[in-house]
Amino acid sequence: MKNWMAIAALGVIVSHSAMASGNPGRGLELSVPCQACHGKDGNGVGDPQYPIIAGQYADYLEHSLKAYRSGERENAIMLGFAQTLSDQDIKDLAAYFAAQQSKLGDLDRKNVD
Ligand code: HEC
Repeated sequence: MKNWMAIAALGVIVSHSAMASGNPGRGLELSVPCQACHGKDGNGVGDPQYPIIAGQYADYLEHSLKAYRSGERENAIMLGFAQTLSDQDIKDLAAYFAAQQSKLGDLDRKNVD
C-alpha cells in the first residue's frame, strides 16, 4: 500500500513537471520558420513590425500563440504559423524564446540617449 502510494505520488510529480514546462532544445528546432521575422534568439531582425519575443514570460508566449491559433487574437501571418503547432510545440517554443536574453533594454537606452 505504501509503495503504491509512493509510485502514484511520483507519477503526479513527473507528469506535472512535464506539463508545466516546455523543452527549449526542441523549441530551438521548431523555431526555424519563426527566425525569419523574430530572429534566431527572438530579438527580431531589426524591423519594428516584428515584435521582440526574447526573454518574454513563457506563459505569455504560450497564451499569445494559442490566441493566434484560435483566431481570438487576429493576425493573418501568425494565424498561419500558429495553426501548424500542437500544444506541446507551443510549450517548447515558449520555453526556448523565454530563455533568450532580451535586447529590449538596450533599445530603450538607445532611445533615451
Ligand atoms: C512572416 C513573419 C513572421 C513569422 C515567420 C512568425 N511571426 Fe510571430 N509575429 C509576426 C508579427 C507581424 C507579429 C505581430 C502580430 C500582431 O500584431 O499581433 C507576431 C507576433 C508574435 C507573437 C506575439 C508577441 C507579443 O508580444 O505579443 C509571438 C509569441 C510570436 N509571434 C511567435 C512566433 C513563433 C513561435 C513563430 C514560429 C512558429 C512566429 N512567430 C513566426 C511575424 C511573424
